[in-house]
Amino acid sequence: MTSVVFGVRGLLPVSVAQSVTNLATQKSQAGEGELNADFLEDERRSVTASHKWRMVIAYEGTRYSGWQYQSSPPTVQCIVEKALTKVMKLDRKELGLVGASRTDKGVHAWGQVAHFLTPFNYTALDDVHAAVNGVLPDDIRVRELSPAVPEFHARFSVESKVYHYKIYNDAVMDPLQRNYAFHCTYRLNPAAMKEAARHFVGQHDFSAFANVSRNDRVTNPVKSIYRCEVVELVSI
Ligand SMILES: *[C@@H]1O[C@H](CO)[C@@H](O)[C@H](O)[C@H]1NC(C)=O
Ligand SMILES: *[C@@H]1O[C@H](CO)[C@@H](O)[C@H](O)[C@H]1NC(C)=O
Repeated sequence: MTSVVFGVRGLLPVSVAQSVTNLATQKSQAGEGELNADFLEDERRSVTASHKWRMVIAYEGTRYSGWQYQSSPPTVQCIVEKALTKVMKLDRKELGLVGASRTDKGVHAWGQVAHFLTPFNYTALDDVHAAVNGVLPDDIRVRELSPAVPEFHARFSVESKVYHYKIYNDAVMDPLQRNYAFHCTYRLNPAAMKEAARHFVGQHDFSAFANVSRNDRVTNPVKSIYRCEVVELVSI
């Protein structure tokens, strides 16, 4: 099995990612520097909602149409919103849930960072945390729930993200791997892939990799790649 590991700073369009880990920290500068609708929404809401919360969410994305809210569910964001709505007794507009990355259909996450707002403070945060996990289906877990500073934004405070792409390279797919790896039947050349991966490292303009017709307001296609490795894993 061949696994390609990308270390990405900022947003890179992903369409075949099999898992994604986003590491957004609280102390960072605004990542992409864009004035975005989400951000303006936050500003408007902050008048009434003064408490911001940061979550680290893990999910098995197999049965979801990705993260992002859309009218034809189920998406992970919809399910998390539903859980928060139930526990917090607030509607989704008040919560203003924002995720760091819009993972695609079937993509898994270990560290999807998100934030939401409430008009009140919580003193027993552990109980709230347990209550949210209590109503979530067991393929979605909130791993961490903590207070965030008002300037924190799950999308714009991102400093870096880590993506793992798993490819199962064999004529016959392992049924136990089918939800966690992309099936590639023709023989890959790991040596050539390792050589190619080297060239992604550094700061580059990734316009050629973007789909302009679905450009979600990402105005800066110049990204820094810190790490890009092709690792061969022993199949079990
Ligand atoms: C919220 O409550 C916690 C726990 O009682 C407290 O430590 C924290 O200072 C409060 N936050 C604000 C912004 O009042
Ligand atoms: C680009 O995005 C459009 C709109 O979502 C989609 O219809 C099209 O298939 C995409 N093209 C590629 C090459 O992914």
